[in-house]
Amino acid sequence: VIIDIVFIVGAYLIGSVATAILVGRAMGLGDPRQSGSGNPGATNILRIGGKKAAALTLCGDLIKGVIPVVVARWLGAEGWILAAVALATFLGHLYPVYFGFRGGKGVATAMGILLALMPLLGLSVLGVWIVVFAVMRVSSLAALLAATSAIPLVFALSASSSLRALIIVLVILILWRHRSNIQRLLDGRETPFKKS
Ligand code: G3P
Repeated sequence: VIIDIVFIVGAYLIGSVATAILVGRAMGLGDPRQSGSGNPGATNILRIGGKKAAALTLCGDLIKGVIPVVVARWLGAEGWILAAVALATFLGHLYPVYFGFRGGKGVATAMGILLALMPLLGLSVLGVWIVVFAVMRVSSLAALLAATSAIPLVFALSASSSLRALIIVLVILILWRHRSNIQRLLDGRETPFKKS
């Protein structure tokens, strides 16, 4: 039990490393929570600081989703404990202990978690994101449709009940964190990225 708690707390501490805030500091862009959409994530860093900064942020947040799951599984965690490790990583990103508990929306970190836990599901969801973004150029819409698609997909693939429960919780939290985006999408005020 103690080792399980170590996994879960460790995962939360790793999830709390808000790449966007660190990249913003390192590249002199300021705190992404103070500009653009106010979200510390790759999309907002793309708005504020361009592609290189965004790519760094995306990689950091994605890898952060992968590492705790891979390490915990390698050390013997499975089933509900592994799902708890994944959730703790994700909650670290949303509510980072080092940054006043004001974190991001969890899309890249959830993507890393999915790729590590269920590569087929991860790649399918990533495919949905890429197609929607390529067509619509709106990151939040791509994230919302990709996240929602994970629910039927996880039921279609024969996943364990712990993984199904994890995916449902992650999707609900992603939708919740995008509530202002959803409102903007409904009002037609969510601005697309220009093709470049
Ligand atoms: O991953 C976050 C994205 O879906 C929306 O970001 O900055 O447009 O609110 P943003």
